[in-house]
Amino acid sequence: MRDEPLLQVEKISKKYPVFEGLLRQNRGTVCALQDTSFTVNEGEIVGVIGESGCGKSTLARIVACLTPPTSGKVFFDGVEVTALSQKQLVPLRKEFQIVFQNPAESLNPRKSILDALCEVLSFHHIAEQKEHCDELLKQVGLNAHLLYRYPHELSLGQLSRVCLARALCTKPKLLVLDECVSSLDISVQAQVLNFLMDLRSHSKMGYLFISHDLSVVRHIADRVLVMYQGAVVEEGLTEEVFDDPTQAYTKQLLSAVL
Ligand SMILES: Nc1ncnc2c1ncn2[C@@H]1O[C@H](COP(=O)(O)OP(=O)(O)O)[C@@H](O)[C@H]1O
Ligand SMILES: [Mg+2]
Repeated sequence: MRDEPLLQVEKISKKYPVFEGLLRQNRGTVCALQDTSFTVNEGEIVGVIGESGCGKSTLARIVACLTPPTSGKVFFDGVEVTALSQKQLVPLRKEFQIVFQNPAESLNPRKSILDALCEVLSFHHIAEQKEHCDELLKQVGLNAHLLYRYPHELSLGQLSRVCLARALCTKPKLLVLDECVSSLDISVQAQVLNFLMDLRSHSKMGYLFISHDLSVVRHIADRVLVMYQGAVVEEGLTEEVFDDPTQAYTKQLLSAVL
């Protein structure tokens, strides 16, 4: 077992400027994240729960290096990624991939599934693309003939698997899943969750699994972070947090759905 966590987030904060009025004047800032720290280990699924607007997506984007934090550090595999330039990040990007909520919006409608996958493979200089794509679709439980289809020809469940295949094509060590099953109906949700759990059981991949849906997080996560107004207010093993929450906010959040 390695000593250092796969992902280590140290006291990150994120402030966004607020522009208001006809002239879009800067009216101060909104603090989307404040002093957030946590880790994700190899092979671990860490769930993030909290109401809408509490900063979950901001956290996901910072971890995936899509937006820089205002302060704080993110270490991936021991490397401080927040200290790297965009250029220095390129070879590292294949190690962490992000999957967003809406699979239909995440794919270019004018590109076939094959093109969508090859684009990522080319970016990361991965050869033997066609064979690789066949294999990827099989891995997520889809028939390889779908490679020649376009996004509008696929169901939402198939599209979300394509998005997962696209994220997996670089063999990442960390998957950041931001509400990745939230737009799916229950049966498709279950299929995708089972697939993700299956995948984790035979890889060392770590997941940061973000969802406002508590039952989904309870089902899949080993550990949970509870967020409220940009801060982690409770953290612990999933069973402990759900069965015996210690913080008032967690109790309130859980009682709202039970
Ligand atoms: N690009 C942005 N510019 C300004 N404010 C933003 C931006 N993205 C998010 N916010 C604000 O930051 C807060 C957290 O948003 P977000 O991270 O999307 O939360 P969640 O994913 O939990 O719903 C919200 O108040 C939101 O309005
Ligand atoms: Mg969000």
